Amino acid sequence: VGSVSAVVVRSPTGSERRTAPTEDEVCQPDPAGGIVECEYGWRPALLDEIRRSTRPGLWRFAPLLALPDDVPPHPMPVGNTPLLPAPALAARFHLGQLWVKDESRSPTLSSKDRATAMVLAYAAHRGIGTVTCASSGNAAASLAVLAAAVGIRAVVFVPEEVAEAKLALMLVAGAVVFRVRGGYGAAYALSRTAALEFGWYERNTGVNPLTVEAKKTIAFEIWDDLGGRCPDVVVVSAGDGVTAAALDQGFRDLVACGGASRVPRLIGVQSRGCAPLVEAFHGDGSVKEVEPQTVADGIAVGSPVMGAAAVAAARSSGGTFVAVVDDDLVPMASAVASTTGLLPEPAAAAAFCGLTEARRTGDVGRDEEVVVVLTGSLLKTPFVGRAAAAPDRAGRVHLVDARLDAVAEAMAEAR
Ligand SMILES: Cc1ncc(COP(=O)(O)O)c(C=O)c1O
Repeated sequence: VGSVSAVVVRSPTGSERRTAPTEDEVCQPDPAGGIVECEYGWRPALLDEIRRSTRPGLWRFAPLLALPDDVPPHPMPVGNTPLLPAPALAARFHLGQLWVKDESRSPTLSSKDRATAMVLAYAAHRGIGTVTCASSGNAAASLAVLAAAVGIRAVVFVPEEVAEAKLALMLVAGAVVFRVRGGYGAAYALSRTAALEFGWYERNTGVNPLTVEAKKTIAFEIWDDLGGRCPDVVVVSAGDGVTAAALDQGFRDLVACGGASRVPRLIGVQSRGCAPLVEAFHGDGSVKEVEPQTVADGIAVGSPVMGAAAVAAARSSGGTFVAVVDDDLVPMASAVASTTGLLPEPAAAAAFCGLTEARRTGDVGRDEEVVVVLTGSLLKTPFVGRAAAAPDRAGRVHLVDARLDAVAEAMAEAR
């Protein structure tokens, strides 16, 4: 399959199985719940193929992905999200150069669309009728909407307390939705069991190898938008750790192809109320399950699927994992929105809070070039009431009669 030379499956118990790269090994979840890792025959010619490619969005990077060559792209425009300079925000962080990789410009406003599009493109090509996943909200909304576009049934498992706007997207797109008592962990376990029982194809993050492949394209696009080089540091929020691990893998692939001389330092960010990867990073490296206590639903993952890989990625790249406090998330979302016009949801705002922390500790220096990945949009996680309480630049509402003097009075007060 593509440039894959071998496949290594790491089981949850720590054992390893090495096999030939058949389509099934590369495109199907391991039934035993193992994580599938591909090894590639990297060569610089692959980068030339990418430069010549006329395929849309993330499909341009197909030569660097473990996807069968004959799979046509999903029809929705996924990938190719903007890498935006953020000078006013950089000044706030006392940083020379800050870029935001704005994944909220994806069809369903989160980076989850990359993995969904690849999984569904494969499913549509193979005539698969039902695709399932568990999700805190974004991946399920993404699966529901993108499945509708290719006439596939989506069956999604979400925590009972899923954000209303995310649930609304699932429903309007016609998905079968299970709200599961017991949080994301319980939803995840049930979705895996149901997939095996009913023969559904899984989009579950990390366990379907295509989900990891797809997220590498964020790294490829950052590299490409910077003119074929890597930044010093990439900061990203981490739940299951798949985005963090895949970003690092993507940068490593570019180095292996001769496209870059070094990978960026990876900084993963979690909420203090759910920080198993922070604890593992600063401890002995082993990831221990925690009970999630955070308002940032996307990163409320007590037992991360690719936790070990994400911690290893931060370590080997010379990066770190940092924890941030929930109370800072909404003010930070407001600070980002009011200085850049970009709209992070709380789980995505965590990455910006993590950058504040990394500047404070000196893990990121003033002269470094930093990219923050904005993974999801606050348009799907409205928190207007609390945003109004955010300090400094948050907007203010005035309830008035329709008279000009009421406007003048309010404006005088605002000054
Ligand atoms: C907005 C947002 N940011 C970050 C993440 C974390 O990504 P990962 O689970 O790959 O670590 C998620 C996952 O749901 C998310 O929805």
